[in-house]
Amino acid sequence: MQAKDCEKKIILTGDRPTGKLHLGHFVGSLKRRVELQNSGKFDDIYILVADDQALTDNWDNPKKVRDNIIEVALDYLSVGIDPNKSSICIQSAIPALHALTFYYMNLVTTQRLSRNPTVKSEMKLRGFSGEDNDDNEQGLPAGFFTYPVSQTADITAFKATTVPAGEDQMPMIEQAREIARRFNTIYKKDILVEPDIMLPENETQRRLPGIDGKAKMSKSLGNCIYLSDGPKTVKTKVMNMYTDPTHINIADPGHVEGNMVFTYLDAFLQDDSQFAEYLPEFKNLQEMKEAYEKGGLGDMKCKKFLLKVMEELLQPIREERAKWEDNIGDVYDILKAGTDKAVRTTNNTLREVREAMRIDYFDDRETILKDWDSWVKESREA
Ligand code: TRP
Repeated sequence: MQAKDCEKKIILTGDRPTGKLHLGHFVGSLKRRVELQNSGKFDDIYILVADDQALTDNWDNPKKVRDNIIEVALDYLSVGIDPNKSSICIQSAIPALHALTFYYMNLVTTQRLSRNPTVKSEMKLRGFSGEDNDDNEQGLPAGFFTYPVSQTADITAFKATTVPAGEDQMPMIEQAREIARRFNTIYKKDILVEPDIMLPENETQRRLPGIDGKAKMSKSLGNCIYLSDGPKTVKTKVMNMYTDPTHINIADPGHVEGNMVFTYLDAFLQDDSQFAEYLPEFKNLQEMKEAYEKGGLGDMKCKKFLLKVMEELLQPIREERAKWEDNIGDVYDILKAGTDKAVRTTNNTLREVREAMRIDYFDDRETILKDWDSWVKESREA
């Protein structure tokens, strides 16, 4: 079934709990999720804490995954994910996902999985390259290799029509569409939905650079501002931000391109009233940029302004987080309730899947008995 033909619009999205979330996650997905959640345009929203998937390359460190489940849940709640509107659920506690993964394994070839560009580049990164002459080589774990199948189970089990995700997830969605299509064709029931990906809208959402100006903000590069960073840490990070190495004296003309202070202002400035409040000598960002390019505007002044802008965003998130941290029991209950709902939804899909495959042996005693009876009689006659 095509997503556009579905009566209900359902969002499924998720994260691997391998670390706390940072501003890259915020501009790249969290902010959008909150907007989608509050748009009222979706019948159901599920946010999956994909701990099973995280284990496919962290099997030797389940504690890291376990500890980050609560971190990620706190990050969600603190940015405005509302448990009354979005169900936060834990992958490993949803048994239907495991069963579906197992059936879907039959609908995909290892050759097809080997062509997945995201898996390929992740394999390289993790030393699962499968090349005998690679010093790093440690073999390719089957669990890691097949995680796109498990992700297909995540998506289809919820009958998701819409998966908001980054470009790196496109091959995963394509894989999910293929498996759903194959399933519907082979078992002659149009039950699985071919999901649509919802990509980030602009360049900043796609890729927020780190505070060092390099590539992407990422935990492994150590260039992140975390949503949970305290004011002192944020101040230090902003003050050490990469700007323009050619802008040595205040009077020198400066460059705003590739200058993180301006990149972050582009991403995080809420409106021009922040100038009136914190930097009244400029009316807007355009004026500030022009002054910087002309020369005479110092980095320190710019950074102080950026810090104010960042704090306007981060302080409420921090306060919200502190509230939840003081009531961890509530967070537990939210995860439990979200997961319970997810279990019900996905069990429904699993039941339909087994029915389509006619492996629903214990769901309908009468039909099965009649079936078996006639089978036994037929074979006796033969
Ligand atoms: N693979 C995603 C990531 O690395 C996480 C994820 C797991 C996911 N299951 C999902 C994303 C289902 C979207 C839908 O970020």
